[in-house]
Amino acid sequence: MYPPFRTKTTEKLPMPDRRSRMRTLRKAGFNPFQIPADQVIIDLISDSGTGAMSVLQWQALISASEDFSGQTAYRDFVATARRLFSMPYIQPVHQGRVAENLLFRLLLKPADCVVSNTHFETTRSNIESIGGRAIDLPEQRRPYCGNLNVKRLTALLRSTPVRMIVLSITNNIRGGQPVSVENMRRIKRICQRHHMPLIYDASRFSDNAYLIQEITRTKSTIPEICARMFQFADMLYLSCKKSVMVNVGGCIALRSKVLFEKLKVAVLQQESYPTSGGLAARDLAAMNIGLREAVDGSYLHAHWELLRGLGRALEKNNVPIIKPIGGHAITIPLKQDVPHAAFALAATVYHMSGVRGGVFNGQYRLALPRRVYSLAHLQYVAQAVGKAYNKPMIRLKAVNEPAEFHDFLVRFKKI
Ligand SMILES: Cc1ncc(COP(=O)(O)O)c(C=O)c1O
Repeated sequence: MYPPFRTKTTEKLPMPDRRSRMRTLRKAGFNPFQIPADQVIIDLISDSGTGAMSVLQWQALISASEDFSGQTAYRDFVATARRLFSMPYIQPVHQGRVAENLLFRLLLKPADCVVSNTHFETTRSNIESIGGRAIDLPEQRRPYCGNLNVKRLTALLRSTPVRMIVLSITNNIRGGQPVSVENMRRIKRICQRHHMPLIYDASRFSDNAYLIQEITRTKSTIPEICARMFQFADMLYLSCKKSVMVNVGGCIALRSKVLFEKLKVAVLQQESYPTSGGLAARDLAAMNIGLREAVDGSYLHAHWELLRGLGRALEKNNVPIIKPIGGHAITIPLKQDVPHAAFALAATVYHMSGVRGGVFNGQYRLALPRRVYSLAHLQYVAQAVGKAYNKPMIRLKAVNEPAEFHDFLVRFKKI
């Protein structure tokens, strides 16, 4: 299988030497998020907003006309999103976390309880900032390691009123594990019985659809699988920086007109005129094409082949990986005898090679930007991680203890 695209423009990679990388690490408090990007050779810290846009996206972006309201790009984006999500009301926003904030403020009251297969950091933080309680009920059973545990949900509902369910597809834990259509169907039935809305965090919906296609070996197309997934959701939101392959953007899709009217007021207060959602028309135009390319099976297949290639290369270099591989990243199990093992591994890999991986939920993760790197880049990554993993690592001591967003804000010094 070959990637379904060729390279039209290139970007020279920075080449900081080993000595300057140690200086950079010290300044960054040995936290990969705080390393300046121009000091990174290969960047696998996140797949969010880091994908390469296609010529069709750039073409749409350049030709979009910028107007205050009633933008053509808005109309086109809404039409595509309506078709794909099978929901009538579409509101663009400028990021996934803004969608969370706007929606949760309309739906939640202090002390409300929200259940998810696993809340992403910003999802949890947006719920908790309203005074709500975020409960994770992951199932983690193969092949659908992203499912929500229905048995535990049923048990919880006997003692605790739950306001709504947020199902993250894919589930970000361990790099994007898929949720099955059957799990969605069962959760929807429970939601109907308990009069709670079922909301999807669909930031990586196309990875989820692709993994369902692989697991079930169905002949159904990605848009057909998407339709099967979305039929159970009362509403959804997404960061368009992942599956939709734009550098900025997000969106909310609703079935309720009443909620849509309230949402428009909140968007006017916090973002901009609702037809822009805080974005330029050019961003909406790129999102419109990105939505179509997100469900192009050949792009998904190429992305997945590359991830699998990285997994094989890591194993060849004696690095264990957590299996099954998720839809957007590879997570590496940590050594028990190393203090702050995920950060120590991230710092050692960066020092040895200039490769930046990320630390999420205390785990070291190599996330794959879409349509950016080749297998040759990833073989270099695998060799670098192999050397770092199998040698003594940099030993770290924390110098601060952030109460929130720990992995993004914590700093260390070298022991
Ligand atoms: C599952 C999930 N939900 C929400 C978000 C937040 O999206 P954004 O970064 O666009 O604000 C992210 C970001 O990584 C995510 O992975």
